Amino acid sequence: MARVAIIYYSSTGTNHAMAQAIEEGARAAGAEVRTRLIAETAPEAAVHSNPAWKAFVEAHQDDPKAALEDLDWADAVVFGTPTRFGNVAAQFKSFIDSAGGLWFQGKLANKVYAGFTSAQNPHGGQESTLLALYNSIYHFGGYIVTPGYTDPLVFKSGGNPYGPSVTATGAPSEADLDHARYLGKRVAETAAKLAG
Ligand SMILES: Cc1cc2nc3c(=O)[nH]c(=O)nc-3n(C[C@H](O)[C@H](O)[C@H](O)COP(=O)(O)O)c2cc1C
Repeated sequence: MARVAIIYYSSTGTNHAMAQAIEEGARAAGAEVRTRLIAETAPEAAVHSNPAWKAFVEAHQDDPKAALEDLDWADAVVFGTPTRFGNVAAQFKSFIDSAGGLWFQGKLANKVYAGFTSAQNPHGGQESTLLALYNSIYHFGGYIVTPGYTDPLVFKSGGNPYGPSVTATGAPSEADLDHARYLGKRVAETAAKLAG
C-alpha cells in the first residue's frame, strides 16, 4: 500500500477543496493518506484584512498541520499552493525551505511528487506556479508525475497537463475536482508500482 502525503497551503479554501479531492482519489486507489495544511505564517493584520482569509484560518485552526515527518513518511507527496505573482506562496516555500535537513540526508529522493495550484485568472500563472514548484523536486531527486493528457477529464477542467489547477473565481468546479481525484489515483498507483 502506497503512503501518500498531500501537503498544501490555502488562504481562502480553493486548494483545501482540491486537496480533499486528491485524497479521495488516492484512497480509492488503495493508498494510506495524510492530508496536511501548511501552517499560516502571515501577520494577523494581513489575515484580518481579507474576510475570506480570516474565515478560512479560523475554520481550519485545528486541522492537522504539515510537518517534516510527513515528508519522511511518504512514498509520494502531492504539493499544492495558490499562485502568488506567478509563483508559489511564501507560506508554501517556507515549509519547503525547512526541509533542508531531510534533503541533506537523502530522505527526499526517490519518491513520487506531483503538484496542484489555483490562480484568480486563467492566464495568471497556473502553469508557471507548477513549474516553479517542480524546481525544488529536481533538487530532491524526486520522480515528478503529471496528468499530461492521459485522460479526457484533463481537457474538461481546462487542459493543464502540468497538474490540476483552478481558476479561483469561486469554488472548484466538479471538473476541477475530478481532475484532482484523477491525479490522486495516478500518484498512488505510480508509487505502488515503484514500491513494487
Ligand atoms: C499576494 C497575492 C498574489 C497573487 N498573485 C496572483 C497571480 O499572479 N495571478 C493570479 O491569477 N492570481 C493571483 N492571486 C490570486 C490567488 O492566486 C488566489 O486568491 C488563490 O489562487 C486562491 O487560492 P486559495 O483559495 O487556496 O487561497 C494572488 C493573490 C495574492 C493575495
